[in-house]
Amino acid sequence: MPAFSASAPGKVILFGEHAVVYGQPAIAVPVRAVSAKASITPDIQGPGGRVVIEAAQAGVAAGLSELAEGDPLAAAVRAALKELGVSRPPAFKLRVNSTIPMAGGLGSGAAVSVAILRVVSAFLGHALSEEQVSQLAFEVEKLHHGTPSGIDNTVITYERPVFFEKDRPVEFLEVSAPFTLLIADSGGSTPTRVTVAAVRTAWQAEPERHERIFVQIGELARQARRVMAAGDNEQLGPLMDTNHKLLQQLEVSSPELDALVAAARRAGALGAKLSGGGRGGNMIALVKAEEAEAVAAAVKRTGAVGTIITTVRGS
Ligand code: MEV
Repeated sequence: MPAFSASAPGKVILFGEHAVVYGQPAIAVPVRAVSAKASITPDIQGPGGRVVIEAAQAGVAAGLSELAEGDPLAAAVRAALKELGVSRPPAFKLRVNSTIPMAGGLGSGAAVSVAILRVVSAFLGHALSEEQVSQLAFEVEKLHHGTPSGIDNTVITYERPVFFEKDRPVEFLEVSAPFTLLIADSGGSTPTRVTVAAVRTAWQAEPERHERIFVQIGELARQARRVMAAGDNEQLGPLMDTNHKLLQQLEVSSPELDALVAAARRAGALGAKLSGGGRGGNMIALVKAEEAEAVAAAVKRTGAVGTIITTVRGS
């Protein structure tokens, strides 16, 4: 049995992906149906400073010192050691397992970092604060995708719905009435780093056009915050539809995502959009709880390779 373990949930972005990188607000919620887990077994016979990392999904089984500076798993371990001023920890083996699909827009990278930061600091007897965990995970996120906004590490660390604006204190969202989301995996995936870079290139080529789109997306996030606070959840549907159209204009959707969005709406969803970096990954649909299974079946018939039904609550 491992002596220490920690976990972190997945996440979905309800409104505002990509625009959030340019300072617009966005809304994200934790998804506890999937998670990353990190556990530590002390190696009592190993020499001081010897750290071994095993992460099956990432294909990593190596000593910390053998892993490159830019390796995100190693970077999370090194970040925890540095924060605590520990250069030679007692020898240990770290195992990482995650049920969050990689590069699917569900925050797998940030969740793995958060779980590692928590377990390493607990093992060393100085559990990091939520604020420290989120900040250090953000530093590791930069290795995953260059210019992250910080929304993934924030929602995943705090495990609460957030209204997020870059460089502002985290604001937890008021969700007056719970609502149901269907998350559907389109099968393909593109690393967030790639889609964020593509949007940046397009923005540099046509700044005014893109900034208009970002502002419209930010306005949707603000409207959604009001709607959720009022508990008028059905009104979120049309806002999601509009957000999807704007993401299409940013060219981060894909034929598969568009097909899932259309299938979900035909099957009775109140609204649907891609979620996360896009060009593959996941779609989210707002559904009535009693219709969630039927909408899930419809998107599976249209090619979804996996579905998750989740209830969003205030905390
Ligand atoms: C990724 O989950 C969301 C993006 O907006 C990137 C970011 O905010 O860092 C695409």
